[in-house]
Amino acid sequence: MKLVIVWIFLLTLVISVSSQVFHWGPCPTPMVQPNFDLNRFLGKWYEIEKLPAAYEKGTCIETNLSLRPDKTISVVHIRTRKGKVRIAEGTATVQNQREPAKLGISFSYFTPYSPYWILSTDYDSVVLLYSCTEFLRIFHVDYAWILSRSRSLPPETIYHAKEVFSKDNIDVSRMVPTDQHGSPYDEPLARPYWPYSTSDFWNYIEYFRSIGAHNHINDMARTFFSHQNLGDTLGYEVAEQQE
Ligand SMILES: *[C@@H]1O[C@H](CO)[C@@H](O)[C@H](O)[C@H]1NC(C)=O
Repeated sequence: MKLVIVWIFLLTLVISVSSQVFHWGPCPTPMVQPNFDLNRFLGKWYEIEKLPAAYEKGTCIETNLSLRPDKTISVVHIRTRKGKVRIAEGTATVQNQREPAKLGISFSYFTPYSPYWILSTDYDSVVLLYSCTEFLRIFHVDYAWILSRSRSLPPETIYHAKEVFSKDNIDVSRMVPTDQHGSPYDEPLARPYWPYSTSDFWNYIEYFRSIGAHNHINDMARTFFSHQNLGDTLGYEVAEQQE
């Protein structure tokens, strides 16, 4: 009878984590970044690829780490989902001073710290993060992330990152790229409205010149030329069929 209950318990766990990556056996024990320097690791990171996590759906996912006065680390997690920007703040701490690259992270008072290990980073471009939780050494659920200081990484960097994970027996075959397009923070400029004809344009130029309004000429010229098929849209976003 007891065995049945244990199996039902395990089965429930497996089902509840089935959207995650789950494997039999205990967690792998990867190497972490030697001489990890927390201060250089702080700041903004963009998510490039990850093992799918149910609580992390969305696009334009970014994380900003900063040190609080009490020496804990604030982890601000920003993502866009269904057109809305969602922000969550968590706390990370170094759990054992002798292993500074093994952080723990929690997003509420009630949840225990989950592992948040820095496997490898150059601090300036890329970081490989790993988190694994095991259940009675029977199976484990893991998360892995490739983050970057910019919204994209060259394919060979991603390839190399996956090799590093694989070398440590971390299965990254189910890693998925994170869409970093269309961030509400760096929206492209919409083309300004230009309802006039070309001869109107030259007439306005003459008029603005006569009154010495050179700023107006400049603005108007940018607007006008962004509507011409010159192959250069002067930094304005152009609908595809117009290119
Ligand atoms: C990250 O968070 C810190 C502390 O809240 C803030 O001062 C900083 O401007 C943030 N950085 C970015 C790039 O958003």
